[in-house]
Amino acid sequence: MASIAGSMRIAVLGAGKIGSSMVRSFISCGHEVIATGRSQATLERASRLGALATRDNAFAVQRAELVVISVKPRQLPALVSEIRGLLKSPTVSVVAGVSTRVLEGSLRVSPAYRAMPNINAEIGRSTTALAGRREHEWSRTVEEVMSCLGSLFWIEEEWMDAWTALVGSMPAFLALIVDYIALGGVYVGIPRELAVRAVLDVMRSTAEHLLQRPIHPQQLRDEVTTPAGVTVEGLRILEARGVPAALIEAIEASTHKSRKIGLTLMEELKGVLG
Ligand SMILES: NC(=O)c1ccc[n+]([C@@H]2O[C@H](COP(=O)([O-])OP(=O)(O)OC[C@H]3O[C@@H](n4cnc5c(N)ncnc54)[C@H](OP(=O)(O)O)[C@@H]3O)[C@@H](O)[C@H]2O)c1
Repeated sequence: MASIAGSMRIAVLGAGKIGSSMVRSFISCGHEVIATGRSQATLERASRLGALATRDNAFAVQRAELVVISVKPRQLPALVSEIRGLLKSPTVSVVAGVSTRVLEGSLRVSPAYRAMPNINAEIGRSTTALAGRREHEWSRTVEEVMSCLGSLFWIEEEWMDAWTALVGSMPAFLALIVDYIALGGVYVGIPRELAVRAVLDVMRSTAEHLLQRPIHPQQLRDEVTTPAGVTVEGLRILEARGVPAALIEAIEASTHKSRKIGLTLMEELKGVLG
């Protein structure tokens, strides 16, 4: 994907799982990347992806036109102590549970942006949320660069926990649904591999169908459901077994958990982040 922001030099601080997905995506968008890590394995992986790899976070920050922070929350205090006061470029954090207010205060950068990609960043198809001061001149650059990961949605920062549950956890929920619907196919006689491929294909085409028309999901359901037919028989079971309510409750429970983890983390990091 070509970037309107032009080719930039981006520092990815913490090129772990999500960090290396971002390194790959930024490079494929034509950006130059300086990636940091602590272990030799992390540095070698970043080099293989085409980044300039270093342990020196201060070096990376001082040369970058945009900085992305992707260490684990508990690794943040050590990183902050290395780069505090050095940030002069747009800065985005993907660290779960750490607010822009805390980032701005501890890193001494304003504004700081917060992004929440999901695991599909690994194939350049993340559904990423971005929060922070959209009216600031840096927001356009941040938006362009983060769009390299896939689709991008600006959201209110207060929705981050809900987004983490809805979009962060959804690949796991969908993977479970794929597995069990395919198992249903096996139960009625379709070979497993074929069943999985068929379920994935229908999932993708149904998503494209709903995006293209676009109609309310219930309308599509009703179009498929003929009176006294095959589909309504299955829908009756899904309703009777409480699947719709379970899906809503799963998102609600994951949202609460994300909020709880964030609050505990903020309590732990209070005083440590400075
Ligand atoms: N994984 C996801 O799908 C996902 C999605 C959304 C958001 N996030 C967020 O992304 C962050 C990273 O998650 P992850 O799953 O990618 O974790 P991870 O694989 O453990 O990556 C963290 C990386 O940070 C590096 N690191 C730690 N301290 C460092 C320091 N002081 N300087 C430079 N590098 C340092 C580590 O290097 P070494 O390995 O060399 O120690 C590691 O490669 C978390 O805050 C998480 O909340 C993750």
